[in-house]
Amino acid sequence: MSAPLAGRSAGTGVPASFARRHFLDLRDFDPPTLRAMLDLAGALKRRRGTGERPLAGKTLALIFDKPSTRTRVSFEVAMRQLGGDVVVLSSRETQIGRGETVADTARVLSRYVDGIVLRTDRASKLHDLATYATVPVINGLTESSHPCQLMADIMTFEEHRGPITGQVVAWCGDGNNVARSWIEAAVRFGFTFRLATPRSLRPPQAVLDWARDEGGSVEALDDPKLAVAGARCVVTDTWVSMSDDPNESRQELLAPFSVTSALMAHAAPDAIFMHCLPAHRGEEVEAGVIDGPMSVVFDEAENRLHAQKAVLCWALGGTYQVKNG
Ligand code: CP
Ligand code: NVA
Repeated sequence: MSAPLAGRSAGTGVPASFARRHFLDLRDFDPPTLRAMLDLAGALKRRRGTGERPLAGKTLALIFDKPSTRTRVSFEVAMRQLGGDVVVLSSRETQIGRGETVADTARVLSRYVDGIVLRTDRASKLHDLATYATVPVINGLTESSHPCQLMADIMTFEEHRGPITGQVVAWCGDGNNVARSWIEAAVRFGFTFRLATPRSLRPPQAVLDWARDEGGSVEALDDPKLAVAGARCVVTDTWVSMSDDPNESRQELLAPFSVTSALMAHAAPDAIFMHCLPAHRGEEVEAGVIDGPMSVVFDEAENRLHAQKAVLCWALGGTYQVKNG
C-alpha cells in the first residue's frame, strides 16, 4: 500500500491534510474562521436568488452509508444554487459496498470531483477518506459528530437571539454525535453548554476533558431542570441514533430527559427550542414544544442550506473569500 498523502501535523492534532480544506470537525478550526464562514452564510442567505455562481464548473460527490433527508437535499440544492453540480451515491451502489478500500475510492473520486461529502457511522472511514483524497472532504455526519448541523444551529440561534457568545444553551437527552458537536461549538464560539443525560449516555470523558482543557464552559449534569435553568436555548435529539442498536430500548432511561412544556418553563422566558430533526414527538420532545412558539426547528433546517453554502465556498474555493480561511 502506498503511503498516505498526509498524516497529522506534529503536536497540533490538526490534520496536515487541512491544507486541502477538509471540514471534518469544529475543533479543527479557530474561532475567526468559523465566524467568517457564518458571516458568509448570512450574506449568501440575503443574496439568495441573485444568480451568482461562485462554484460554476465544480462537482461535489455525496456518499451516504446512512439515510438522510436534510443533509442530502440541502447539499444538493446548495451546490446547484452556487452554480456547481453533484453526484449522489449510496455506498451500496458503489464498489465500497463490495469491499473496495476507502483509500482507493478516495484517490479515484479525487480524479473526477472537486469535493466529497461523506455520511457514515464510522468516523475512521471519514478520516481515511480525508487522508487519501486530494480534494476537500466534508463530514456529513458520523457516529461521533455532525459539524454541518452545528453551523446551521449557531446561525439560527444568532438570527433569533443575537450573538451566542456568553449565552447558555442546554441539552437534554442522549449525549450523542450532535451533542458532541455542540460541545465543540461551545468551545469555539464561547458559550456555556449544559448537558443533562443519563450517566451511561454522557459523551465520552475525553470529549469533556478536551472542552475543559480548551477553556470551554461545558457542564455534564444529571438533572434536566438544573441544565435548563435560565438557558436561552434548549436542544435535544432522537433517543436512538442511526449508529445505535435499534433494538436497544432506552425509553425508560431517557424519559426523565424529555423536553416538555414543564421543563421549558425553567428556561429563560424568551428561550428557543432547537432539534436537528428528524424528531419523535412524545419521546425526546413534547409535540407542544416542537410545534409551539418557542420552536425554531424549521429555520434550523433551512439554515443547513445557507451554512453549507459557506462551507462549500470555503472548501471548494469559490470566488467568495472567507476571511482567515
Ligand atoms: N439533521 C439531519 O442531518 O437530517 P438528515 O438525517 O435528514 O440529513
Ligand atoms: N443523532 C442523529 C442525528 C440525525 C441527523 C443520528 O445520528 O441518527
